Amino acid sequence: MKTISHINDLRAEIKKEKAKGNSIGLVPTMGFLHEGHLSLIRSAKKENDIVVVSIFVNPTQFNKKDDLDSYPRDLNRDSKLVEAEDADILFIPSVEEMYPNGYSTYLEVEGLITKQLCGKSREGHFKGVTTIVSKLFNMVTPHRAYFGQKDAQQVAVIEKMVRDMNMDIEIVPCPIVREADGLALSSRNALLKENERKEAIILSKSLFAAEKMIIDGERLASKIKSFITENIKTVKDAEIDYVEVVNGKTLENIHIVEGDVLIAVAVKMGKPRLIDNIRLEV
Ligand code: PAJ
Repeated sequence: MKTISHINDLRAEIKKEKAKGNSIGLVPTMGFLHEGHLSLIRSAKKENDIVVVSIFVNPTQFNKKDDLDSYPRDLNRDSKLVEAEDADILFIPSVEEMYPNGYSTYLEVEGLITKQLCGKSREGHFKGVTTIVSKLFNMVTPHRAYFGQKDAQQVAVIEKMVRDMNMDIEIVPCPIVREADGLALSSRNALLKENERKEAIILSKSLFAAEKMIIDGERLASKIKSFITENIKTVKDAEIDYVEVVNGKTLENIHIVEGDVLIAVAVKMGKPRLIDNIRLEV
């Protein structure tokens, strides 16, 4: 595996691989890797000749300095994990490399898709995500890029950006990887205190129970929302940011549960804010 921190070196490497006719898969991450990230690398390995993994804690997608500063990091451990997955290139640029002095260009997907759900409480978050992802796309020029369905809104926003900007890149959404008790893996789980970690299963538990309600015939989104809300409220340390039932592609609110349905929750569990979702075809 080659570890690269400069954009010029990355471009030279990509150029060499493309000249050999090799296909390129990109897995963008912010590090502190877990099985969720590794599952994306494994999918990329299966479908591409060369896999590039990027690790960059992107300051422009954090709207609170405190959240950026406390974001967990361990580059040493991450590097070993990426190598063990047999990735070809690990790209770890510095903040100065990505946003040099005087940097002033941003790519923003407008409209409801970025204003809803996480866009409401995390002002400017998706603008930071689409800016950094489009920069990575320009540097790596991948054939395919891999994103986890754990961040369902991020996938929807990036798919829209690729369509709107005519980027010639296939976006590959990958399923959510969970702990044995159902908690969706997240780098932020490391920030949970022991009791909060136990209580955090309320997110997936209430989502799965809601899924069962739908399978059993419930079609009113309001009923699903209040069921999940009441469930989460039983947990002392849980502070709900949102519980939403929306269309899985457009993220528009729906009243009747049918078609491509995304049920998404965001909950503050002590310090960290956790998100989870289920998507189903009804
Ligand atoms: P990060 O939170 O590190 O996540 C990197 C990728 O791993 C994302 O596509 C995310 O959806 C996926 N992922 C995280 N937890 C997962 C899980 N439990 N199961 C499956 N996939 C999971 O998302 C970002 O970084 C950033 O916003 C980024 C796209 C890198 C731009 O900075």
